[in-house]
Amino acid sequence: MPHNYSYQAALAASERIGWKVDDIIGGDKHLDFTKPFMPEALAQVKQLSFLAPEEQLTLNQIRGHEYLAMFGLVEEFILPYVVDHARLQLSGDDYRVRALLQFAGEEAKHIHLFKRFRQEFEDGFASRCDFIGPAEDVSRFVLSHSPLGVGIAILHIEWITLRHYIEGVKDNQNLDPQFKSLLKHHWLEESQHTKLDTLIVESVVKSASPKEIDQAFKEYAEIGAFLDNGIKQQTEFDVESFVNATGRNLSKSEREAMTATVLKGMRWTYLGTGMTHPNFLTTVGQISPEGKKQIEAMAPMFC
Ligand SMILES: [Fe+2]
Ligand SMILES: [Fe+2]
Repeated sequence: MPHNYSYQAALAASERIGWKVDDIIGGDKHLDFTKPFMPEALAQVKQLSFLAPEEQLTLNQIRGHEYLAMFGLVEEFILPYVVDHARLQLSGDDYRVRALLQFAGEEAKHIHLFKRFRQEFEDGFASRCDFIGPAEDVSRFVLSHSPLGVGIAILHIEWITLRHYIEGVKDNQNLDPQFKSLLKHHWLEESQHTKLDTLIVESVVKSASPKEIDQAFKEYAEIGAFLDNGIKQQTEFDVESFVNATGRNLSKSEREAMTATVLKGMRWTYLGTGMTHPNFLTTVGQISPEGKKQIEAMAPMFC
């Protein structure tokens, strides 16, 4: 495999980076609701020219709340997946065991971090924002698939976090510093997760038959379709949250335009950025050139 990822190096990086939830939120660290939370590359609200700038800001922040909730949701199934994988081999390579447990510990910390930010959001935002779930049902569905199918879906999720930060946030001076700090600290640790999940997927592939590999790509598509159904439902929630927060009466055409724009933004944020990520495609192409082609064929719907 053309990479130099190792459990030892990932563990060393993780120990160097390690931050605490309280370093990032709480005390005098608050969200600034006069600023956008999400980069426009993901929020995509500015194209809704019938909205006033402050309404665009509100919709951007609603997308920020959705981002917090969505990562809270997906990390709920990443955590047991990593724990289960680590549990199978608790002796042997000490670096491997420690790196995987560190990975799991960081995801548990991220779940906590996203919850803290959601609480901070709810305390400061004008009205209630709904979110799909419950997380237990999503976890149960996702984890009912094979370890390889789920591993590929998780690899997709790890890579999108990096892309979101590098392409939209890193050099962005307009965002709320607090939300930017969340995305930065998440990215710092997810950088190790992309490598560790690549190693997990490669180790699971070793014992998989060609039939199981084909099945895993079908399962990846099934998990993607399941998340896309959630995205469609969440789009309705985001639009409703906007109406509740602003009190604005949207005309039928405005509502349709907002729904289409939010749906496109969400699909790009959670699905398209992964299905077109070069490193993700490299790994899946090494497992199955045919599977990679299937993902490339699906991707335009989410871009
Ligand atoms: Fe995470
Ligand atoms: Fe992660």
